[in-house]
Amino acid sequence: MNKKYNIAVIPGDGTGPEVIREGLKVLEAVSEKTGFKYSTQIFDFGGERYLKTGETLPDSAIEELKKFSAIYLGAIGHPDVKPGILETGILLKIRFSLDQYINLRPVKLYNAEFCPLKDKTPKDIDFVVVRENSEGLYKGMGEFQKKGTNDEVAIQISHNTRKGVERCIRYAFEYCKKRNKSKKLTLCGKTNVLTYAWNLWERTFNEISKEYSDITTDYAHVDATTMWFVKNPEWFDVIVTDNMFGDIITDLGAMIQGGMGIAAGGNINPNGVSMFEPIGGSAPKYTGKNVINPLAAICAAGMMLENLGEEKAAKSVEDTVIKVVTEKLKSLSAGKMGYSTTEVGDLVVKNL
Ligand code: IPM
Ligand code: MN
Repeated sequence: MNKKYNIAVIPGDGTGPEVIREGLKVLEAVSEKTGFKYSTQIFDFGGERYLKTGETLPDSAIEELKKFSAIYLGAIGHPDVKPGILETGILLKIRFSLDQYINLRPVKLYNAEFCPLKDKTPKDIDFVVVRENSEGLYKGMGEFQKKGTNDEVAIQISHNTRKGVERCIRYAFEYCKKRNKSKKLTLCGKTNVLTYAWNLWERTFNEISKEYSDITTDYAHVDATTMWFVKNPEWFDVIVTDNMFGDIITDLGAMIQGGMGIAAGGNINPNGVSMFEPIGGSAPKYTGKNVINPLAAICAAGMMLENLGEEKAAKSVEDTVIKVVTEKLKSLSAGKMGYSTTEVGDLVVKNL
């Protein structure tokens, strides 16, 4: 008996709906091929709905989303809505309320031609960033003092709990073990300056590492990490870091794997509902032009399948993306692929 999955789909803003359409096309094709069953329900959360109703994501929606096997998200962010409203009201609200405490971001180069780094090939760029996704600076703690005066002070707190840090680090060790590549886990932090937060991270990391004698551990400051992403990306296998640093280094990671057009991520609650998304954002400039690269969304669908336990289907999606990226596309950037958004989706479907 095959399992049946129910997937909540939030196409969202900008190019979100265009790339999600292609992802759903691939999902349908791979389900026919490998035999898993699923249904989808579309939700219209995003900028347009907010502009019409003033509502971002009602609490009732959170309760509803909890009933799904997974969430498939396009992009959140609208040029007519002040920055922050939709991001915190929708994206971060889902991450936090569903306790998706891991943001998993694979950095994998599929075709050396699309790498901006000289002489780096797919064997050099293949690592995964485990980003803490529920705490740190993203917690939104802080205050203004004497707002609007010359003496104004703005305080933004990085809030790290032992439990929050530990569950993230444990996940990273387990992930590294299961990935079974070079079995090396790097903690990326800033122990030399941020002496409270990173002291907790470092102590926890060292403690947990004792339970994983087969995994080599390493530490890198975040600034040095960005340098090594460019200079020696082959040094990395799995990296674990906090929310803010993870946000920053994974944009750089996306560029060395070929660009935002191919970068996907998963917001994971290992015991609950997880959400998968292309990490590139809503790209208003390209909206409605059928030029955006849908491969990141297609890779996100692949990650979703892997997370649901459909490993064969996930592998089939990834192998096909590799084929399309190595044999067909001229570039991974919007408008330069040599194909339209829909044609790239069709190519993946045809080559599955
Ligand atoms: C990301 C995005 C989000 C983040 C924004 C849109 C809130 O940049 O998923 O990396 O900062 O986490
Ligand atoms: Mn980001």
